[in-house]
Amino acid sequence: MKILFIGDIVGSIGRDALESYLPRLKRKYAPDVVIANGENAAAGRGITKSIYQDLMFMGVDMVTMGNHTWDQKEIFDFIDEVDYLIRPANFSPEAPGRGMATVTKNGQTLSVINLHGRVFLPPHDDPFQKADELIAEAKEISPLVFVDFHAEATSEKIAMGWHLDGRASVVVGTHTHVQTADARILPNGTAYISDVGMTGPYDEVLGMTKESVLYRFRTNMPTRFEVPKRGRSVVSGFFTEVDDQSGKAISYERIYINDDYPFQN
Ligand SMILES: [Fe+2]
Ligand SMILES: [Fe+2]
Repeated sequence: MKILFIGDIVGSIGRDALESYLPRLKRKYAPDVVIANGENAAAGRGITKSIYQDLMFMGVDMVTMGNHTWDQKEIFDFIDEVDYLIRPANFSPEAPGRGMATVTKNGQTLSVINLHGRVFLPPHDDPFQKADELIAEAKEISPLVFVDFHAEATSEKIAMGWHLDGRASVVVGTHTHVQTADARILPNGTAYISDVGMTGPYDEVLGMTKESVLYRFRTNMPTRFEVPKRGRSVVSGFFTEVDDQSGKAISYERIYINDDYPFQN
């Protein structure tokens, strides 16, 4: 199975960039499954039902989330109704939605798991133990398992990579919005990258206008971070090919497209 993952989509610039590059990425990589992190898709904060539907229409098969899951109140109305939107599995057992879902393409079923880190982030349940539970469940269905670990600290993400090496097909990090250069296949067959990076504004600070972020850094005064409406974009992704029988990764490629690193066919 070939899997294309798109890092945190930020605002309309991110959605528009994905819309324009996804057909080209599909031609180049021919993915069976496309997964995208949508926690910042609605103006940087959460996701709405219409944006979820737009992503599905564009050809995304599964949407993962993160610390911004609940930012748009309407998510409470639709998260339990849609089939291909998951939020971190180690949120409270009382939280709506779910942390794992499957997508079946070309006769193969992939389980997708979303987890949330606990370093420099709210103290959710143990993501390592939750990963153990869900991977055992997923393996009953298929050897193909994809994990989006939404976390701040590279140490926590690398630790998760080792924790799941040989048990997950792919472990990607999200949340920092900056792509790391440490992609590899771990010794027992798990493709890994500490952070895929974001799909959104290229000339700002993690997707938020540099003026608003600089004002906060310079003055320590409260300010609302805004996502710009216009500007250049970056598309960040991670492609993996996984062996259908063993569930182990065969190859991977980092995807990073912007005016400095143009798309190559
Ligand atoms: Fe994000
Ligand atoms: Fe995040």
